[in-house]
This record gives sequence, structure tokens and C-alpha cells, in this order.
Amino acid sequence: MTDIDRAIEVILRGMGGAETAVPASGEYAMVMPASAHLSDQQIANLFSYIRQEFNGTSPISPDKVRAVRDQLE
Ligand code: HEM
Repeated sequence: MTDIDRAIEVILRGMGGAETAVPASGEYAMVMPASAHLSDQQIANLFSYIRQEFNGTSPISPDKVRAVRDQLE
């Protein structure tokens, strides 16, 4: 699994909360809610923005988000 796969998974499933979430890291006392209601396009836009601003790296396609979503189902 690549870093971006994991980041997409955390958005889709949340982290540290319900059984369906990515397991908690143990470092934080809060839960990150799942945002699976966001569309593939919205999640692609989100990570494209973050990658551009923080690393200047390539955009994420909605197909990439769909592929991770399909894997989780
Ligand atoms: C665009 C919005 C957000 C993005 C891109 C995002 C991204 C992430 C990612 C990638 C991680 C996992 C870090 C790791 O790999 O260890 C994470 C963890 C976390 N996020 Fe978010 N997050 C977002 C919004 C939120 C919101 C709205 C909340 C709370 C209301 C939140 C609370 C947390 C917490 C508490 C963790 C740590 C969970 C744990 O370690 O158990 N995040 N976030």
C-alpha cells in the first residue's frame, strides 16, 4: 500500500473510531470521522490540493480514489 492509498483510506474509513475505521495510532486522544460520503472527484481534488501545496507533486485522479474505494468494499 502506498502513502496516498493510506491517506485515501483514512478519509474513506476514518481513523481510531468504529470497528470499520483505520486502527488508532495511539498517539492522539481524538477520533477522525469517516468521510466516505465525499465523491471520488471531491477526494481527488482534496489530495491534489494538499500534494500541490505541500510537496508540489502530481494531482490524484478520481479513478485512483475509486480504485482504493473498490478495494475496501
Ligand atoms: C480534509 C480533511 C482531512 C484530511 C486530509 C485528514 C487526513 C488525515 C490523515 C491522512 C490521517 C492519518 C495520519 C496517519 O497516517 O497516521 C489523519 C489522522 C487523524 N485525523 Fe484527519 N484529516 C482530515 C480531517 C480531519 C477532521 C475533520 C478531524 C476531526 C474532526 C480529524 C482528526 C484526525 C485525528 C484525531 C487523527 C489521528 C487518529 C489516530 O491516530 O488515532 N481529521 N487525518
